[in-house]
Amino acid sequence: MDHVFREFEWRRDKNPVLEFQKDMYELNFPGFRVTPAFLQGFARELREADRRSDEALFVLDKDGQVCGFLWLALIGTMTDPCVGFIKNIYVAPPERGQGLGRLLLEKADAWFLDRGVRKAQLTASTVNQLAIELYEKVGYETIRVRMEKSYW
Ligand SMILES: CC(C)(COP(=O)(O)OP(=O)(O)OC[C@H]1O[C@@H](n2cnc3c(N)ncnc32)[C@H](O)[C@@H]1OP(=O)(O)O)[C@@H](O)C(=O)NCCC(=O)NCCS
Repeated sequence: MDHVFREFEWRRDKNPVLEFQKDMYELNFPGFRVTPAFLQGFARELREADRRSDEALFVLDKDGQVCGFLWLALIGTMTDPCVGFIKNIYVAPPERGQGLGRLLLEKADAWFLDRGVRKAQLTASTVNQLAIELYEKVGYETIRVRMEKSYW
């Protein structure tokens, strides 16, 4: 059976989506360790997002198993009253490299365009060059760089 893109359902999808976050955060924030307290906070934010009309949660489902996640929001920025923001995009490791990340980004475009926004944004870590390459391929450009200097 093919991958099915569908709306997130709290009871059915909460646990697999929370399980994705260890890989997600530890990959993108080297040195960070996901703790039970972090996951509790994440679960609270997820629950709240699930009830809001300016946020949307979706999953990819393969044979009844959740293998991808997408969290979208409409946000205001310094220069734009409303842009589409990708808060979380994830494809489970065995399913990567088959175009599902690209598919999730297309679904994000469709959700944002339906709501009349003219721009989409996301943030990425420089350690995650594979994700950055994917974003560039579908049209994202770097507009701001966060810099860091280490003292030891
Ligand atoms: C980033 C992520 C969502 C991409 O998902 P994916 O399903 O592997 O992406 P796709 O299969 O659509 O790949 C799209 C592009 O990414 C690159 N890519 C993906 N997997 C690759 C691999 N194994 N080797 C080399 N390039 C790869 C290719 O450039 C590919 O381009 P193409 O479509 O022209 O071939 C996935 O790697 C992921 O979930 N990573 C962990 C979570 C994460 O870091 N999310 C992003 C936070 S900013």
